Amino acid sequence: MHFNVITLFPQMVQQALSYGVIGKAIEAGLLTLSCYNPRDYAENKHNRVDDKPFGGGSGMVMMYDPLLRALDSVKQSGEVGPVVFMSPQGQPMKQADCNRWASKGTLTLLCGRYEGVDQRFIERHVDEEMSIGDYVISGGEMAACVAIDAVGRQVEGVLGSDESATTDSFMGGVLGYPQYTRSEILGQTGVPDVLLSGHHKAIQQWREEQSLSLTKRRRPDLLEGTSEG
Ligand SMILES: C[S@@+](CC[C@H](N)C(=O)[O-])C[C@H]1O[C@@H](n2cnc3c(N)ncnc32)[C@H](O)[C@@H]1O
Repeated sequence: MHFNVITLFPQMVQQALSYGVIGKAIEAGLLTLSCYNPRDYAENKHNRVDDKPFGGGSGMVMMYDPLLRALDSVKQSGEVGPVVFMSPQGQPMKQADCNRWASKGTLTLLCGRYEGVDQRFIERHVDEEMSIGDYVISGGEMAACVAIDAVGRQVEGVLGSDESATTDSFMGGVLGYPQYTRSEILGQTGVPDVLLSGHHKAIQQWREEQSLSLTKRRRPDLLEGTSEG
């Protein structure tokens, strides 16, 4: 799976993705990452990539032309895949979006900064706008890293053989089940007997029940339209 990231802060993205399973997958070449800095495509004296908003108001806006040249460079380098602008104005990003992107093989993510991106670039060149939640962060880089991590986990071989995404929250439309490990007794509290029983079918059934009851309590919205909803 290949990720292109258009960002003013490539190192921020590269470093954030250099840890854990995603870092290992990048090292192994299972995931590849290319960053394109719009500043490298600014054809003006001070390499400016932003300007004041028309109509006045605070802050600066990322200019159309350097972004277009950065995107052209992505196109010249190979596959582009869906072009996704990370934005608080986008649709809330869901596991289903990440699974869908993972099946594409290539994803191009645009990271905004300042007050955002010239609307004409979004209208002409962006396929989807996605938000990581109802709050505003200072730039799209961390949002892009969230997307890359969530998509990357779905790529075959990225999770080690003893890890699996299939029982993760959202994968089966419900939240994950509670996990326990050593010590077996913590003060007065043990672990549910069934987990020590060695009875695999009973353990699986307990986990499914836990997932469902947790989802009913915390995220009933996930069950709407299902037989459990
Ligand atoms: C300071 S924000 C701009 C916010 C914009 N003025 C607004 O009110 O919608 C700068 C950039 O951070 C990114 N960003 C901020 N919040 C985000 C969120 N919840 N999800 C995804 N990206 C976000 C976007 O790329 C955005 O262009």
